[in-house]
Amino acid sequence: MLFREGPVDRPEELFDRDEEFKELRDALNGRRLVLLLGVRRVGKTSLARAATYDRARVYVDLREFEWRQYVTWDDFYAALRTALPRSKKALDLLSRISGVSVAGFTVEFARGRGRPHLPETLKALDEWAAAESKRLVVVIDEAQELYKLKGGSFTPVLAWAYDNLHNVVFLLTGSKVGLMHRLLRLDDPESPLYGRYVHVIKLSPLPREKALEFLAKGFAESGVVYSPRLLEAAVDHLDGVIGWLSYLGLETTRAGKLTEELLREVVEKAARMAWGEFCNFVKLRGTARYLHIVHAAAEGATWSELKRYLEIKEGPINDAELSRLLKSLVDEGWLEKGEVYRLTDPLMRYAAKNGWRC
Ligand SMILES: Nc1ncnc2c1ncn2[C@@H]1O[C@H](COP(=O)(O)OP(=O)(O)OP(=O)(O)O)[C@@H](O)[C@H]1O
Ligand SMILES: [Mg+2]
Repeated sequence: MLFREGPVDRPEELFDRDEEFKELRDALNGRRLVLLLGVRRVGKTSLARAATYDRARVYVDLREFEWRQYVTWDDFYAALRTALPRSKKALDLLSRISGVSVAGFTVEFARGRGRPHLPETLKALDEWAAAESKRLVVVIDEAQELYKLKGGSFTPVLAWAYDNLHNVVFLLTGSKVGLMHRLLRLDDPESPLYGRYVHVIKLSPLPREKALEFLAKGFAESGVVYSPRLLEAAVDHLDGVIGWLSYLGLETTRAGKLTEELLREVVEKAARMAWGEFCNFVKLRGTARYLHIVHAAAEGATWSELKRYLEIKEGPINDAELSRLLKSLVDEGWLEKGEVYRLTDPLMRYAAKNGWRC
């Protein structure tokens, strides 16, 4: 079925994305470090999973760290533990490392000071890949969360792996482009990764025609009745964000028919989800200024328009402070900066236009 609850797993289940799929496969064959970037729900996890479906892979999902203030190495190891290959040979190599114990297919990492050395752990996986004549893909989904790692940075390990492991390729996905750059600092001569080649793939929302085709194809498959006018209206609201289109697809399949009322309900529900995530961010940062900025940017706004709006709400604000707030909203993927500042998510725009609060 085209509409599904979770991410796509297999290549044949992907709608469209032929070019990006091919580019990613080629990059995974030839490169050491690949980034897959795109806004929330655009289909990064699906593409990453489908493109590595038949590959030796370690799939580390860091999404759960999104709302944490910080992440520890033990947290990272806990996520890594469940992602390891279920191969006797790989586990045997890992079991020789201090801090790793293996019983059957279960791996335990010692915590705190006794925890295994990450380069050694990756080296064991590299050796396993070499012995199997495979190229191992280490996928780190929502890798930018590692910028919150306490007690040492992840980047030196990545740089070391880049230089020394010949049978491992890293695929990092991220929906917060600014944070990803802050983590990797590719253009900073002081960064351990400086000068390394990184292949970057940007995943965009579907173009309008493709978004319409996606809905029409899924509706035809599940026997949903709809009018072309409502299909257009749905894409007006949801853009080509495939996660939102799938959500509408699933809800409509349940109802059997796409009506004006159902579309309104689904948009409202989906907007609540998107808005709830943004409110988590506002709470985590502890300032309502982000909320005012997002309201002001509902229809797109320039720097001075945002400043004026914020000053009406909160009184004088200095330029440096406003720039810092905006940078943080851009880094976290809520806003994008073109000719004006604009909200990246169509449903965030809906919520902001309606003046929702947290
Ligand atoms: N190419 C595709 N064909 C069909 N469905 C897709 C495709 N890409 C994504 N989807 C659907 O869209 C939804 C969101 O996709 P996915 O989780 O891969 O996006 P994401 O960018 O990783 O999102 P998030 O930012 O929340 O992690 C999923 O339900 C998935 O089934
Ligand atoms: Mg994802």
